[in-house]
Amino acid sequence: MILIVVCYWALILQLHVSAIPLNLNGVPTLEVKLSQTDNTLIRARVRNTGKEDVTFVHLNFFRDPAPVQKVDIYRGSMVPLRGIRQHFRLDGLTPEVLTTLHAGEIFEDEFDLAETSDLGHGGLFTLRSSGSVSLVNNGAVSGYLPYFSEELTIQVNGTRAFQGPKTMSPLNWHTKETCTDSQRTSILGEALGNVVSLANAAANAAQSGSADKFVEYFKTDDAKTRSIVASRLLAVAKEADSRDSGATTYYCSDVLGFCESNVLAYTLPSQNIIANCDIWYSYLPDLATGCHNQDRATTALHEFTHAPGVYSPGTQDLGYGYSAIEALNSSQAVLNADTYALYANGMSSLVPNGTCHVQEISKNRLIEPAIYLGC
Ligand SMILES: *[C@@H]1O[C@H](CO)[C@@H](O)[C@H](O)[C@H]1NC(C)=O
Ligand SMILES: *[C@@H]1O[C@H](CO)[C@@H](O)[C@H](O)[C@H]1NC(C)=O
Ligand SMILES: *[C@@H]1O[C@H](CO)[C@@H](O)[C@H](O)[C@H]1NC(C)=O
Ligand SMILES: [Zn+2]
Repeated sequence: MILIVVCYWALILQLHVSAIPLNLNGVPTLEVKLSQTDNTLIRARVRNTGKEDVTFVHLNFFRDPAPVQKVDIYRGSMVPLRGIRQHFRLDGLTPEVLTTLHAGEIFEDEFDLAETSDLGHGGLFTLRSSGSVSLVNNGAVSGYLPYFSEELTIQVNGTRAFQGPKTMSPLNWHTKETCTDSQRTSILGEALGNVVSLANAAANAAQSGSADKFVEYFKTDDAKTRSIVASRLLAVAKEADSRDSGATTYYCSDVLGFCESNVLAYTLPSQNIIANCDIWYSYLPDLATGCHNQDRATTALHEFTHAPGVYSPGTQDLGYGYSAIEALNSSQAVLNADTYALYANGMSSLVPNGTCHVQEISKNRLIEPAIYLGC
């Protein structure tokens, strides 16, 4: 990993994604209807099918102005997506990233697939959208809400797709970064040291630790799954420990300009780039003192698991926060970034109290006081 870099990038993004089927028994859902309005232009109509009003985070979802994955695209296999995965705070969320839908209400979003995927081959593509959004109560994530769509098959004129608008144009992406802020460099260095400890401890636990604990997060005690989880965590520890080599580039600030409000950090899996946003420094503590709380170390660990250069395939964001990861099955869990972060949370002896692993389990995410460092 390269911690401090000076370089120019011409970026073409792609990342591994897959469908996210969910168990919908009795859970209110968002129903997504996709339609093609013109070539690669897609309209999504999102309806609250439940009997109650819901408020949720729309980051990484429809309405997010950032180049995020809104639908899975298949042409035989999954079409690689160029785009980012954003990691947001779980409390103190501000209204601009929240959407409220009354029971039965619908909102629409229109977006261009060509902005985040290369559809230049043209032909038939199948689209599907499923996953979960984070429900919010009083500005804090309180649960999750599954969403799903029917499949939509579209015919794309590749020439026109190729000529389509490109907010992801490499021209916008030539960036220069010199992490000259010594305070940030030192905070990030500390966090990466903690990632090494947490990821190594979690890898040990995956290899030979409590079966109950492993099943709690990964929904199986199968040796193969334990081995995959351990290998990914060891790869993360190794990556975080490699300061001037390695597969990823970790920027200490928002080099590509994708930090929206409430976003802590993001990853560009196709380029193995991770970048911290300002609130990664101002809002997060080094290490959480409560079970399943967010901190700098597990946020960085989460991002590392997205990078296919660390361990392939890179993870997705299938569920975010403890209540959402509880609902995933084992094949989803091994591909879900936050499952690794939450499993690793509090694994290290560095974490004083309130870890989920040596202390009593509290499944509630407590509100962490923000630590302001003024950088
Ligand atoms: C997880 O769920 C999805 C669909 O709900 C299914 O395709 C997959 O086989 C499941 N995996 C396991 C291990 O149950
Ligand atoms: C695709 O679009 C181009 C440019 O608009 C047009 O010249 C071409 O005929 C279209 N191809 C098909 C198969 O419609
Ligand atoms: C940690 O736990 C010990 C005993 O369980 C307690 O005395 C101490 O105050 C706790 N420290 C923190 C920071 O909560
Ligand atoms: Zn993520």
